[in-house]
Amino acid sequence: MRSLTIRRPDDWHLHLRDGAMLQGVVGDTSRYFGRAIIMPNLVPPVVTTQDAIAYRERIVAAVPKEHSFQPLMTLYLTEHTNPDDVEDGKNTGLITAVKLYPAGATTNSHGGVRDLDKAMPVLERMAKIGLPLCVHGEVTTPEVDIFDREAVFIDTVLEPLRKRLPELKVTMEHVTTTDGVEYIRSAARNLAGSITTHHLIINRNAILVGGIRPHYYCLPVAKRESHRLSLRAAATSGDTRFFLGTDSAPHIDPLKECGCGCAGIYTSINTMSCLAHVFEQENALDKLEAFTSLNGPAWYGLPCNEETITLVKRDEPVSFPSKIETDAGIVTVFDPMFPLHWDVT
Ligand code: NCD
Ligand code: ZN
Repeated sequence: MRSLTIRRPDDWHLHLRDGAMLQGVVGDTSRYFGRAIIMPNLVPPVVTTQDAIAYRERIVAAVPKEHSFQPLMTLYLTEHTNPDDVEDGKNTGLITAVKLYPAGATTNSHGGVRDLDKAMPVLERMAKIGLPLCVHGEVTTPEVDIFDREAVFIDTVLEPLRKRLPELKVTMEHVTTTDGVEYIRSAARNLAGSITTHHLIINRNAILVGGIRPHYYCLPVAKRESHRLSLRAAATSGDTRFFLGTDSAPHIDPLKECGCGCAGIYTSINTMSCLAHVFEQENALDKLEAFTSLNGPAWYGLPCNEETITLVKRDEPVSFPSKIETDAGIVTVFDPMFPLHWDVT
């Protein structure tokens, strides 16, 4: 196959940041994607519907004029989140989901949830009104090995929560393990998972072999090869419970290339080319549209995009910048370590 036309994709997990970084990166998403779920982990975080309205306006203003793009807003769940505010946000059509960051799990998550009991009133309301909860599925317990944090989260947090509130719709975001994939497959309903581009391509060797490579460091951290293969099988299966959430998370180079580098990989600009490559390798190009453009909208109860995009396979590799320049600083672009031949026309 040399050419593939699919519904315009959406990104169900994206970090756009704010200010100069937002200006510098939003076009790399809005060029390709019709919509994206926007992560609320700004400093300070997007906690109230009012915060989300203001942030949404800043995003819309930053989108290049020639692109059409709809940001889907989320609220950052805290132990003090007001259930009425969340319900108002849903009723006005502005809030698509609420995001649970276990406190300390990742970038700008210190204001997240320490004691899930304290968030139960909000979670109960969300279950009642059908508003999905997006979870960063890792425990933060210091005793738990970083490579086991997703599996332990499923057993000790997610499964008990889903037993307690079976009506709550939960998106397990950026699934990175076989355990996560199997857990989602085992659920009869109200559970789905997003998978990033980079977790389909790298395993933990990319971060650690031959030197420490900070531009492959993200959270949840990439796991061993067997997990990557499970993710590829899930993404390319056509199973409607799995869809794309790039987790494209730009940080300026000095914040990644230092003694304590930030987690986050910037993939917005070459995600569709990377995914076409992966799906072709898996003999599953016919499943790409489900993963990028159909399963996500179905899960979030939205229509799929009317427009289409066409991917074309070129003889010569398609070139992407290795770094982008923003007014906030330079951001390194994800290097899949193989040439990309699929181009979005
Ligand atoms: C994200 C970020 O930088 O905001 N980083 C990451 O490694 N994915 C936060 C997150 O989604 O965990
Ligand atoms: Zn993220």
